[in-house]
Amino acid sequence: MSKIERVGVSLDKKLLSMFDELIAARGYSNRSEAIRDLIRDRLSEERLAKPATRAVAGVFLVYDHHSTELPRKLVDLQHSHLLQVIASTHVHLDHHNCLEVIMLRGKVREIEKVANDMAALKGVKLSKVNIMTTGQDLA
Ligand code: NI
Repeated sequence: MSKIERVGVSLDKKLLSMFDELIAARGYSNRSEAIRDLIRDRLSEERLAKPATRAVAGVFLVYDHHSTELPRKLVDLQHSHLLQVIASTHVHLDHHNCLEVIMLRGKVREIEKVANDMAALKGVKLSKVNIMTTGQDLA
């Protein structure tokens, strides 16, 4: 870990009280850890706005496995993006529906392309992408 420096921050009383309520509800035991996480989150968001930033992501897809071509197309897409696909897992949700979680790694622009291609497949009912930086350089 890099050297620690202490900083003092002046805040409006009401704003601080709302912040304390928020972090208590989130389970933080002190302000310092909550503030560090907020700063990392903000820095990560700024980096994700740049297409060349290296990132990791989880793509969540819910689909009907009776959809004839979809399972094969989903596997084909993963095989054609071997550099980006780290892992995938499949959960049978009920008689019809499956959840596929595909973990991707690469530049933001590559991840977005692969995730969009997967979400656009016919038969995918719901999709969500959770993308974040790798945490590199974020003390
Ligand atoms: Ni299934």
